[in-house]
Amino acid sequence: MSKTAESLAQEIATIKQLLSRVEAAVDVYAEAATKNVGQKSSSGPGEVSEKHTALFMETSQLLRTVRGPLDMVFSNFENSAHSGALRVVLEMGVFDALPQDGSPATAAALSEKLGVEKDLLVRFMRVLTPVGPFAEVGPEEYSHTPYSRVYLYNLANAKMYAYFREHGYKNPDSNYINPYCFAHQTGDKTMWEHIGSDAERLRNLNLAMMAQSEAAKWTVGIFPFKEELSKVETNEETVLVVDIGGGKGHATKQIQALTEGIQGKLVLQERPEALADLVDSLPGIITMEYDFFTPQPIEGKYLPYPCPGK
Ligand SMILES: C[S@@+](CC[C@H](N)C(=O)[O-])C[C@H]1O[C@@H](n2cnc3c(N)ncnc32)[C@H](O)[C@@H]1O
Repeated sequence: MSKTAESLAQEIATIKQLLSRVEAAVDVYAEAATKNVGQKSSSGPGEVSEKHTALFMETSQLLRTVRGPLDMVFSNFENSAHSGALRVVLEMGVFDALPQDGSPATAAALSEKLGVEKDLLVRFMRVLTPVGPFAEVGPEEYSHTPYSRVYLYNLANAKMYAYFREHGYKNPDSNYINPYCFAHQTGDKTMWEHIGSDAERLRNLNLAMMAQSEAAKWTVGIFPFKEELSKVETNEETVLVVDIGGGKGHATKQIQALTEGIQGKLVLQERPEALADLVDSLPGIITMEYDFFTPQPIEGKYLPYPCPGK
């Protein structure tokens, strides 16, 4: 449908109005995020992520309007071409072949290394550079960006389709035959043994878990620990909380702060290897070796704690 002077003026007015809504949402987000920077409160990150989502929604609305209804239909084709190309270069090995430090590689070097036709690789990378995740830093020369590197940390998810294609669409119930072990070719090691066999990888995992719980404290803050636990009569022997597979105790420590003044114990249960380097670093928290595939030794009435990914 062709535009008239009137419809164009209306379109531009709508875009400007949406832009001012985005600006207002940026201000609201900036205020919440700035106020909560470095704060130890557990409800703050919930507020920040709410404002961040609102900003994202306003931005999407602006983008939709700038593109218009017809072009938004075509965005579906772009998205499917993008996902298709992404999957092909994943299978080709481009994610692993590109230097991880962000330095570039030419299409010629990549095609030789991977044994793929250069022109085909260039065609796929043409789809995967304008909006990412890779960058084209010179003619037919590519590099990783934070948006492509993120796939490397999620290799098991990225290769999930290949695992299920090979093993059938059944729930994985083995410590050795599962998407992680498949993607990382762990051989006779379980996922945790594989992670633990590389000190840097283990350190990164622990840092990531701590960072995640710092960035999303709502996972702890969402449950009113103090309010709920105050309703029951407790003494020094009462087990208030059992954090099963709680890593380095980052969430347990937050819960400890939230339950200050309530009599009772906090227990962190983990694999022995994970607990090995924790000695004396969690005052007031009982650490216990435990395999969560075995019956729970602590009995009582449970209130589930919402854990990400479980
Ligand atoms: C993804 S991390 C989650 C850590 C923490 N709960 C959090 O939400 O940040 C999973 C944790 O489960 C632990 N884990 C894995 N297998 C386990 C098992 N069989 N028994 C007990 N803990 C286990 C790992 O050592 C790791 O710290």
